[in-house]
Amino acid sequence: MKIGFIGLGIMGGRMAHNLLTKGHDLIVYNRTPAKAAALMAEGAKWAETPADLAQKVDILFTMLSTPEVIQTLAANENGFLDALPKGALWVDCSTVNPGFARWMAAVAGARGVRFLDAPVAGTKGPAGSGDLIFLVGGNAEDLAQCRPLLDCMGKKIVYLGGAGNGAAMKMLFNLMLGNAMAAYSEALVLGEALGLSRQTVADVILDTPVAAPFLKMKQALIDQDEFEAHFPLRWMRKDLHLVAQTAYEKGVALPALNAVKEIYALAEKHGLGEKDFAAIYRYLAT
Ligand SMILES: NC(=O)c1ccc[n+]([C@@H]2O[C@H](COP(=O)([O-])OP(=O)(O)OC[C@H]3O[C@@H](n4cnc5c(N)ncnc54)[C@H](OP(=O)(O)O)[C@@H]3O)[C@@H](O)[C@H]2O)c1
Repeated sequence: MKIGFIGLGIMGGRMAHNLLTKGHDLIVYNRTPAKAAALMAEGAKWAETPADLAQKVDILFTMLSTPEVIQTLAANENGFLDALPKGALWVDCSTVNPGFARWMAAVAGARGVRFLDAPVAGTKGPAGSGDLIFLVGGNAEDLAQCRPLLDCMGKKIVYLGGAGNGAAMKMLFNLMLGNAMAAYSEALVLGEALGLSRQTVADVILDTPVAAPFLKMKQALIDQDEFEAHFPLRWMRKDLHLVAQTAYEKGVALPALNAVKEIYALAEKHGLGEKDFAAIYRYLAT
């Protein structure tokens, strides 16, 4: 079985590496070719365009930044969609809104290509160690076919039903992540203003049920004050935008989410977009 992987950023590069090291043949494409160098040294083949890659594979994984980028690489000149063989399976792992995931399923289906939305919970570390959680929407038989591949990259696969349901669940994860990071950052800033040291606030709060467990990892980034990106802040802002868009489409009000989304927008404007989303603390603290 020939496998293609498009999108070799923080997440995709590590996921592709795990497929390769577990013995799978891989053809890869990335806008910035240099990011494929390490994978090619491990045996991956390079494709010059998404279309070149697509015509040679049975299963295609995409791990790209935004719906707009996926649409461009899928449907523009040299796009992968028209080049995929009929009956091929496209598994999109990017974080997108459920409406866009359903659009992908429809345009793929119209071309005789099967589609799964399989976004992931977990960041750079779990992507590297093969410990991601896949949230999957689409046909159960298609999932059964690619399950052994997902097992190479993840520790858990959650099947949620029809197309778009994986993306729907992923929206909820990032709503929780984005809000919790902002709330914790505000607690640190207020605590310091009240004369409590940042260390004391962190030690006390992070050891209680009010703190989400992921915040311990983010505290380490706050302490180092470098905010090397595990999950870039600009993609958190993008995801919160997609959550807000999805809520609008459903007539659901998310007042807290919408306020928090704009804090990430301001932090991005402040030059923190390429940093980890924990850098929202730096924005609020300065
Ligand atoms: N990092 C995390 O913790 C995490 C966790 C779960 C889900 N996600 C989601 O996973 C996806 C990828 O995230 P990431 O952290 O791996 O981001 P990343 O390192 O920024 O990678 C983004 C990928 O998209 C490609 N890309 C961006 N703009 C493009 C364009 N205009 N044309 C062609 N390719 C383009 C990049 O190519 P270049 O290499 O050329 O820039 C790269 O392959 C996003 O949807 C994100 O929300 C991320």
